[in-house]
Amino acid sequence: MITVSRNSLGEPVFHLRAGGASYILSVFHGYLLHLYCGAAISDDDPEWLLVRVGHDSVVPRPASTPEGWFSLDIAPLEYPAYGTGDYRPSAVMLRSLGGSVTPGSAAAALRYVSHEIVRGKPVPEADRQPAVYASPDEADTLIVTAEDPADGVRVRLYYTVLRALPVFCRRAVIENSSPAPAELERAYSASLDFTGLSRPAELLHLWGTWGRERHIERTPLCHGTVSVSSRRGASSHHHNPFAALVEDTTTEDSGLAVGVSLIYSGNFEILCDTDPFGSIRLLAGIDPTDFRWRLEPGETFVTPEAVIAVSDEGLGKMSRAFHRLFREHLCRGEWRDRERPVLVNNWEATYFRFDSEKLLAIAKDAADCGIEMLVMDDGWFSERNDDRSSLGDWFVNEEKLPGGLAPLVERVNALGLRFGIWFEPEMISPKSKLFEAHPDWVLSTAGRERSIARSQYVLDLTRADVRDYIVDAVSSILSSANIEYVKWDFNRNLTEAASVSLPAERQGEIFHRYVLGLYDVLERITAAHPRLLLEGCSSGGGRYDPAMLYYSPQFWTSDDTDAMERLDIQLGTSMVYPPSSMSCHVSASPNHQTGRETSFVTRGHVAMGGAFGYELDLTKLTDAEKELIKKQIADYHRCCALINRGDFHRLILPGDRVNGKSCRAAAWMVVSEDKSEALVTFVVIRTSIHPVYFLRLRGLDPAALYEDGEGRAYRGDSLMRAGLNLTKNYRDGESVVIHLTRRDA
Ligand code: DGJ
Repeated sequence: MITVSRNSLGEPVFHLRAGGASYILSVFHGYLLHLYCGAAISDDDPEWLLVRVGHDSVVPRPASTPEGWFSLDIAPLEYPAYGTGDYRPSAVMLRSLGGSVTPGSAAAALRYVSHEIVRGKPVPEADRQPAVYASPDEADTLIVTAEDPADGVRVRLYYTVLRALPVFCRRAVIENSSPAPAELERAYSASLDFTGLSRPAELLHLWGTWGRERHIERTPLCHGTVSVSSRRGASSHHHNPFAALVEDTTTEDSGLAVGVSLIYSGNFEILCDTDPFGSIRLLAGIDPTDFRWRLEPGETFVTPEAVIAVSDEGLGKMSRAFHRLFREHLCRGEWRDRERPVLVNNWEATYFRFDSEKLLAIAKDAADCGIEMLVMDDGWFSERNDDRSSLGDWFVNEEKLPGGLAPLVERVNALGLRFGIWFEPEMISPKSKLFEAHPDWVLSTAGRERSIARSQYVLDLTRADVRDYIVDAVSSILSSANIEYVKWDFNRNLTEAASVSLPAERQGEIFHRYVLGLYDVLERITAAHPRLLLEGCSSGGGRYDPAMLYYSPQFWTSDDTDAMERLDIQLGTSMVYPPSSMSCHVSASPNHQTGRETSFVTRGHVAMGGAFGYELDLTKLTDAEKELIKKQIADYHRCCALINRGDFHRLILPGDRVNGKSCRAAAWMVVSEDKSEALVTFVVIRTSIHPVYFLRLRGLDPAALYEDGEGRAYRGDSLMRAGLNLTKNYRDGESVVIHLTRRDA
């Protein structure tokens, strides 16, 4: 719900209410001020929250406002510009190339012009970037227009509230309203100024690298700037386009957490700047380092969307808001809500050394075990026998697959399995027919050596002809056989990001144009193949971001398939992303990445934390292991709806120490929306002598009686307050899964 009232100056105050959260902004002497973002409050105009601190005379202030205390450098601003007295990091900078004030100037101060409120969630300017969607019954949108007439910058700020969720969606449309061309130098999606946090603030974010993605880190804010970003051309393994502002006392189930997630697959920055008065500015959007966007008079630029999830009951509630938002208002298509097939992928089974017969042998064992899909990974095309050639040449290697794909897929289907295939469409090998024909299709800077990574270059997706080639090449393979799944890989980042197809003054647009090009390709392929299940991948989780979830409801979480390593990765990922989006496989032991040995049972328990599958050579397993697979698949089917749609609770993070600090463990649970069942997973990472474990559960119905499948029953309040007694002598890496069902259920 969005209400508009008037403040003491007669100017509008907007109160956005959503799922127990409030967001309030106000016009004040024409400026757009941010008054509040947090748990719901009932006052419509908490003007008293404005900090009216006296400031010294050297601080500039707008000469036309009567209040002596009012300075843009101190005021909490809704979408700050630079150069007119606010010295903090700004959200927007449009440099006029011949404007009305001084050509070359970028100074601006945005003043309110008008607003409108519409039902639903309109798409600004027919924009085609991934964004949250909602029906008119589910959402309301406030659009505020503000302008600096002197410099010719007009912005339209979009705020959508989803009535049932504590979530606010924000984006900005920036218009060059001057008669001369201009260049956008920064255009963040959202800016939030926080004043009056009662405890020291911290930034919680997800860091990583290849094979170690999305580890949780909390860092205290300092005076000055703390930021996370990617300048790699993809959202990256290294930082995720997510961060949460929390207080130092915030835990999983108590305290303030305001999370910001950017629906974007390219260069991003989320920064927190703390000023001397303790107010904190959080900015989220495209990283400005190598970003320029030329706007002719009247042209607009639409930022990616930022979504803000608010919780005053800790991180868990914030995560659950993101999970539901992404599951129900971002993921799309046939597979959004469907149970995904349990698959076996041949990558760790064979790497590049396979042929039809080997794949069929795996498929046969897979069918016997109840696996539902075979995915053929890298190495099926052209002369691709290692990672040094052939990317771009998307035609079947008939030495490996005689007769092409159709006979293989038919035989796999005849075994009762679906068939899926791997692609890396955005790449080109220098050793390929495609490169021989089109060396200019590579992103590169004239006169500069091209950097190489994994023996490959990046195709120039800013070009329409390159995008058409990709769409045609992928589509022709997809229509050549009954292919029901694609793993879309992306194994290197952008360098020398320039395009021969664009003029000099547009080379600063390449990084963003690349991402728009990727969206165009994904949109066309998914629209043409609506039944296809797309799984995103980027050397594991190097582009695991909300924008990719718009096209692919699941993403390969990490190339590290070691169950113990996956605990950090999957629980970190769960901070923002729903379990249904995490692709998780049981792989071989000793693990190929770490060499660690882990039991088949534990590998299964950990992989059941998301979209479940296998990644090993089934033909090498013992009969006992094959029997275990049958049991794991039966267990997974029994709990799949719960895992995919339940409310997720982190119980113990791998970094936590338990049992008098001598042990390390991890635990999580999912609870069905009606609280009639729950699945609890507990993994001992490192045990000790005489361990005692009580696991306090969350999210249950306190009065209900839950059975554990072993003949014991417990009240929900006992399980949540006293805890489940899991004491026994565990070995390192041992795990337990308990399926609780409500007695009346
Ligand atoms: C990187 C992916 O993350 C792996 O799963 C595998 O598909 C390889 N690429 C294939 O080259």
